[in-house]
Amino acid sequence: MAGTEQMGEPLFILKNEDKYTNTTEVKMSQFILPCHANHCGDLNVGQLLKWMDTTACLSAERHANCPCVTVSMDDIDFEHRLSVGQVVNIKAKVNRAFNTSLEVGIIITSEDPLSGKQWKVCNAFATFVAKGQGSGKVQLKPVIPQTSDEQIEYSIAAERRRMRLHHLETIKDLISSSTIQKGPDLEESQYVVPAEKTRVETVELVLPPHANHRSNTFGGQIMAWMESAATISARRFCKGHPVLKTIDMFHFRGPSQVGDRITLKAIVNNAFKDSFEVGVCAEAYHQESWDRKTHINSAFMTFIVLDKDGKLSMLPCVNPEPGEGERRYREASARKKMRLDRKYIISCKQTEVPLSVPWDPSNQVYLSYNNISALKVLAAKQNWVLNCIQSKAKLFTLEEDQLLFFKAEMSASANVKQVFALLSDMSRRHEWDIHYQKFKLIQKVDEDDVIYHVISPSVNKDSNFQDFVLLASRRVPCANGDPYLIALRSVSLPAAPPTKGLDRGEVSCAGFTLCQDGDAGTKITYYIQVTPQVLPYITRDITGLSSDLCKIIEACNEFLEKNKDTIHLVI
Ligand code: COA
Ligand code: ADP
Repeated sequence: MAGTEQMGEPLFILKNEDKYTNTTEVKMSQFILPCHANHCGDLNVGQLLKWMDTTACLSAERHANCPCVTVSMDDIDFEHRLSVGQVVNIKAKVNRAFNTSLEVGIIITSEDPLSGKQWKVCNAFATFVAKGQGSGKVQLKPVIPQTSDEQIEYSIAAERRRMRLHHLETIKDLISSSTIQKGPDLEESQYVVPAEKTRVETVELVLPPHANHRSNTFGGQIMAWMESAATISARRFCKGHPVLKTIDMFHFRGPSQVGDRITLKAIVNNAFKDSFEVGVCAEAYHQESWDRKTHINSAFMTFIVLDKDGKLSMLPCVNPEPGEGERRYREASARKKMRLDRKYIISCKQTEVPLSVPWDPSNQVYLSYNNISALKVLAAKQNWVLNCIQSKAKLFTLEEDQLLFFKAEMSASANVKQVFALLSDMSRRHEWDIHYQKFKLIQKVDEDDVIYHVISPSVNKDSNFQDFVLLASRRVPCANGDPYLIALRSVSLPAAPPTKGLDRGEVSCAGFTLCQDGDAGTKITYYIQVTPQVLPYITRDITGLSSDLCKIIEACNEFLEKNKDTIHLVI
């Protein structure tokens, strides 16, 4: 999961003219020595994970004011290798505290001390839980973001948390609905490695240096042991020099303590043309009952193999074991598809994401995340210019990097929950929006996401009507003070191909934020990133050539007034 760029944040000056520093920010710089590297001189990723965990944990503890343990580390995609002689810089800060857990954003850069060159290695998000004395839960104080970057990370952290908490379920659903059934094509491939030959089983004893002062094993230590087991398995498979490219989310299901034995089991699950997946599972045998083990973590790591010229090497084929091995083989294919989708949607900067992303069940979670986070980034933009006031609504524009954004602010005399229920029901938008002439639901994806088709009349009399295929994602607030959100973006899918006689329009980011305003009022803000197809609708109104927007705003107010009492609030 990628966040907004955190490097090179502008200075933020406080009212008393002091430079603002985030008190949770922790920095670590390490010189990479041969003892941190493998035989090829590359930094051991396990060592890096330990440093990341140490830095992030201190950041979490600065906010929590008590010891914290690692609950999860989101997917990591390594963009560069790190070698002996370079300096690795790790920067961590708390983005948001929830109830007992908090999210820490981590950014890793590498530096060549001789040339002074710096480059980004990866960014990551770790979640920690505060552990007070005894078994009681620790309610954390909220984070109060100060800079616009902090505000954006704070806002999107809620969306990342939602993905994390649904991660296991999502993966299970996708894997169970996956249609990839085919086993390896053994005849065509040159080399076949039986999966069994890559199996690794090893054990570690948790000693005091692996744990904090309360004897809880550091998450970074467990991740490092898992990475080490996975790398041995990878080496057995490719007989070359495997390079770790991505790690799927680590989730610490249960704790371990000094004195526990940690068993690590790894095996190659599947090999693709130029990458392969190793799965690794960590279990703890606790001192008090050696016959009982607890599953503490499982991870999936993708490796590539580079030849001596740094080019990707072709890989052998893996022959999975019957039963469990075949299941893991298929599941690894499904995970590979999800990784590619995720990379395409999430790692792209907002402006690089193509307008209509192809929708399918395996990228739904990321598209929904992208839809909501794009709206949050848009809502956090500053320097809007007030253009005019129509029907008591304020219309603003913002020009930035050759992009045009539009926002309209208005008030409604209905409770925010009623407004949310009414405006997020896309099948009713035609009741107040003249641009929604014909609506068709294409797919109800889940409780919060729908895909629909809408036909809009053209602004020019002689042109074709336009149609849009939109994904609408809605969210209730994660905490008091957060807005209700309804985000819209174009998607494409085979069930709604472009039709003759209609011009297919596209929306990259649009939607509503709704905030309670007084006892029974709601502040509604509508945002849209203007695309060529929606430009005429907006500019005609803000330049006074049309009063369509004015009509829509009035109709929206009437619609809310007329229907608000049909929505029964569950308090
Ligand atoms: N990713 C991120 N956060 C998660 C999560 C996940 N996969 N699963 C749970 N959480 C968060 C919850 O949202 C909750 O946060 P909140 O209070 O801010 O809403 C918090 O963890 C506690 O969750 P809860 O459901 O109350 O407890 P649980 O029964 O799931 O247990 C732990 C959570 C963290 C206490 C338990 O999983 C644990 O002890 N894990 C091991 C932690 C550890 O020792 N790590 C070091 C290496 S072994
Ligand atoms: P799953 O089997 O559903 O993938 P697990 O949590 O049981 O999930 O295991 C995670 C991964 O760890 C597996 O995909 C596999 O690659 C590896 N693994 C699990 N058990 C073993 C084992 N006994 N030997 C070697 N590797 C194992």
